[in-house]
Amino acid sequence: MGAYEASRENYHRLRKLKFYFRDAIISLRDMRWTGQAEDRYWAASAELLFQYHKLEKGLCMPGPKRFFGYDPATSTLELLDAWRQRGYSTDNPIYQGAFEALHAYRERIEQTYPDNVELLTSKIDTELAKNQIRFPQLKTPVPFGAEISEQAIGEFECLVQARRSVRSYQLRPVPNEIVIRAIQSAQLSPSACNRQPCRVHVYAERKRIDELLSLQNGNRGFGHTAPLLLVLTAEASCFFDASERYEPYIDGGLFGMSLLLSLQAQGISSCCLNWCVEPMQDIKAHECGDIPSSERIIMYIAAGYAELETTVPRSPRRGIQDVFVVH
Ligand SMILES: Cc1cc2nc3c(=O)[nH]c(=O)nc-3n(C[C@H](O)[C@H](O)[C@H](O)COP(=O)(O)O)c2cc1C
Repeated sequence: MGAYEASRENYHRLRKLKFYFRDAIISLRDMRWTGQAEDRYWAASAELLFQYHKLEKGLCMPGPKRFFGYDPATSTLELLDAWRQRGYSTDNPIYQGAFEALHAYRERIEQTYPDNVELLTSKIDTELAKNQIRFPQLKTPVPFGAEISEQAIGEFECLVQARRSVRSYQLRPVPNEIVIRAIQSAQLSPSACNRQPCRVHVYAERKRIDELLSLQNGNRGFGHTAPLLLVLTAEASCFFDASERYEPYIDGGLFGMSLLLSLQAQGISSCCLNWCVEPMQDIKAHECGDIPSSERIIMYIAAGYAELETTVPRSPRRGIQDVFVVH
């Protein structure tokens, strides 16, 4: 290797280190539930969901009904108490869902007669007595209704084929109702322990869109036509430590796909825009978009009504033999 190549190689190594270093810093800073962040709502709600999801999940396991979940039930009770002490809303579906999970768990205790759970049982009873109202829409577990008609499968395939990355948009604004409906569909995406870390920051003001787009390279030549910019983020404090450092991106990717499909189903085209940027651009985008620093930007999404008669690249897909691996 010549001197030029060697110095290039070293430059790229150093550059790589910069990204790893930044990842380590922000993981340490944000990925914890016991942090001192002023607004701990996201960490607190994620921890509550995480704990009572273990109860909900345990109630759906195959095999004979057995007792389980002493620790997550205890944590759920403590977290409900902390929720009220912090003054978070008791109308919140996350809070109310915990009660429904506790009700169902209490029934399991009744059915399995475990030893040494008197204290836990009496704590659950005290907690449930505090909140006499039931929430039928949050009842858990529920029967799995997986029946889908042949027609629906065909329609899904049409939708998947109709979604393409569009790079030319009409000026026509996108109504907020469409975006909200798409977000509500995307909220049904799976997420690790149902912690739902994703948020969608919505920008429709030209100046702000252009400022945000100036921090991203992949929109050159068409970004200025997008009447709407979505910034999809995932809140890092929903995760308890760095072992979960990839989860924001995994949950975010799943959420993003549902979002794109729902937008498409409502006639709105989109184009994902990569967030492979320098740390400084990431910091600037958080500032410019008024996005809390603990939220990881997963991607930008340009969206709007496609310009009439616009074209899209063929973007051929790999042959199935590349992807379908039978073991
Ligand atoms: C995470 C991600 C980042 C992307 N970033 C860009 C981008 O910066 N600029 C762009 O023009 N397209 C971008 N795309 C769109 C891809 O080029 C496109 O999805 C791919 O070529 C397949 O085409 P299709 O979406 O039309 O099926 C991105 C897609 C994804 C999933």
